[in-house]
Amino acid sequence: MKNIETYIENNKDRFVSELFSLLKIPSVSADSTFSDKVKDCAQAVCQQLQAIGVDEAQVYSTPGHPIVFGQKMIDPKLPTLLVYGHYDVQPADPLELWDTDPFEPTIKITDIHPDGAIFARGSADDKGQFFMHIKAFEAMEKTGELPCNFKFLIEGEEEVGSIHLEEFIKSHKEMLSNDLIVISDTEMIAQDQPTICTGLRGLSYLEVEVTGPDLDLHSGVYGGAVPNPINILSKMIASLHQSDGKVSVKGFYDGVLEESTQSRAQLNAVPFSLEEFKNSIGIADIVGEEGYTTIERTGIRPTLDVNGIWGGYTGEGAKTVIPSKAFAKISMRLVPGQDPDKITQKFVEHFQSIAPPSVKVKCTPHHGGWPYVLPEDHFGYRAAKIALKEGFGKEALPLRGGGSIPIVALFEKVFLTKTVLLGFGLNSDVIHSPNENFGLRNFFKGIQTLPIFYRVFSELKMGKM
Ligand code: BES
Ligand code: MN
Ligand code: MN
Repeated sequence: MKNIETYIENNKDRFVSELFSLLKIPSVSADSTFSDKVKDCAQAVCQQLQAIGVDEAQVYSTPGHPIVFGQKMIDPKLPTLLVYGHYDVQPADPLELWDTDPFEPTIKITDIHPDGAIFARGSADDKGQFFMHIKAFEAMEKTGELPCNFKFLIEGEEEVGSIHLEEFIKSHKEMLSNDLIVISDTEMIAQDQPTICTGLRGLSYLEVEVTGPDLDLHSGVYGGAVPNPINILSKMIASLHQSDGKVSVKGFYDGVLEESTQSRAQLNAVPFSLEEFKNSIGIADIVGEEGYTTIERTGIRPTLDVNGIWGGYTGEGAKTVIPSKAFAKISMRLVPGQDPDKITQKFVEHFQSIAPPSVKVKCTPHHGGWPYVLPEDHFGYRAAKIALKEGFGKEALPLRGGGSIPIVALFEKVFLTKTVLLGFGLNSDVIHSPNENFGLRNFFKGIQTLPIFYRVFSELKMGKM
């Protein structure tokens, strides 16, 4: 591994400038005005793969944003690792809250990152993280130490629910076949504390529309005598949580797998400070389901949140109006035992049932996804544990990720192989928020540790360890 380390050390500056070239492309998947940029980014990723000696790297177009795939098959007798990542990013707005241009990557020293952090949309989620794999591969390839076959699948629609990836993996099953999948798109519990993300939550996302009168009305002439859809929607939303923090959607908890006392103790044993958590986001107090810790609430428990709400007059000044309609976007994070389609259906039934007869309610489901868990006796988990220990000189801890990567559960269904979530980000990276950033220390630690993981994976798979 000495040669690999030296290679990385000698090429650090180039690695950073190559990542910058990807971060400069505003590949915002949710906003169609950026479609050309998303395409440009797919091309750029493909060129990066070709440049490091990945064969057959190609951009595959879909009815949505393109998918990049490339592979290096060195020996059919060796195990095959599939690296998945996403080159699309979340919208950068609100732009005025960024200290620097989100698509003009800037290195700044911070309290958390005395060695500097890269500030840019996508720096941690996920360009900076999948790029660590590209450079780790390069370092092994250039030093003649590739231990296994590699496949790279980098998509452009993760942030909008991976809508076209499902069809792609089903129709390219053979091409994508693998022994294990690895993704760097999650977080470590603390700086320099190696972490294996042992699960992801599923998702059910809906939009609701509540209609009162047929048209907007004068609030003096009609107010107090007709249903105001905003008043009513607010009340309906408020009723979705009970006073103990539980979600009141009928049947929401049916089938939810309760974690064992031992597994809960293990999850809660990670270094986590509630004070730091509160301070880092400026809240005076936490909220949540009674009987569970913050780590549990964001990892092993299902939740419901309103992601957006609008209706009526929101322009300058005042307008006295009873609106005809009110809207909200509502999402639920799901855990093992919950079926996203069934939860969506239960939500719709519940929401219709709590609506007063004075209004009409329409629910439109958006995307969803299944939860995922990696058991600790799986060889992929063991490979990660051994590699992280060697790379960090410290025992890795398991952590359940609160976010979702919907394709992971589908990978398992289609390929029957598991995914190891080996993320190098931190909570303070503020992914999806203004001033998203990724520590240079984290970036290089990833590039240094992933080759160890590739080697251990290959050895474990071949039964040599
Ligand atoms: N990388 C995140 C998911 C994530 C973040 C998992 C932190 C675990 C810890 C991913 O890019 C993401 O944002 N996913 C979306 C999925 C949705 C758009 C379908 C999410 O979780 O909201
Ligand atoms: Mn991501
Ligand atoms: Mn994301």
